[in-house]
Amino acid sequence: MIGKKMEKALNEQVNAELYSAYLYLSMVAYFESLNLGGFSAWMRAQSQEEMMHAMKIYDFINERGGRVLLAAIKAPETKWDSPLAAFEAAYSHEQYVTGRINDLVDLAIEEKDHATNSFLQWFVNEQVEEETSVDNVVQNLKLAQESPGALLMIDRELGQRVFAPPTQGAE
Ligand code: FEO
Repeated sequence: MIGKKMEKALNEQVNAELYSAYLYLSMVAYFESLNLGGFSAWMRAQSQEEMMHAMKIYDFINERGGRVLLAAIKAPETKWDSPLAAFEAAYSHEQYVTGRINDLVDLAIEEKDHATNSFLQWFVNEQVEEETSVDNVVQNLKLAQESPGALLMIDRELGQRVFAPPTQGAE
């Protein structure tokens, strides 16, 4: 059975992951408005990953005998100054999420909740990947600045990404 404090904190993280999905979906719409199909496909896959993160925590709360309580999701921004600005915003958002995951781990340790601590380690590792993949795009976009040809090349490359839902029982 999960403790009340941990249950509340995990519920807040479900909301934060849903907000991430919402923010990235807003970026999808922004990229669509620029006719950047590859950027849009990449962000759509990212948004789907965030939904998967939210559901992973949602299911864990239930499994541990807790109660999922959904709250309002705040409205995301709707436009950015450039694709680079959007990806920079995504990168700082991922850093924020990493901070939240670290706080959750601290709380699990404080509460001596080893099951939750072990569960959260997946997210600790996932955040390393998330930050790296977003930062790679930021760095490529910085190199491509002022070059529409390079931007279109990145668009084509990003368009290759497909969301692969995790298989049953796998992490
Ligand atoms: Fe669910 Fe991108 O962190």
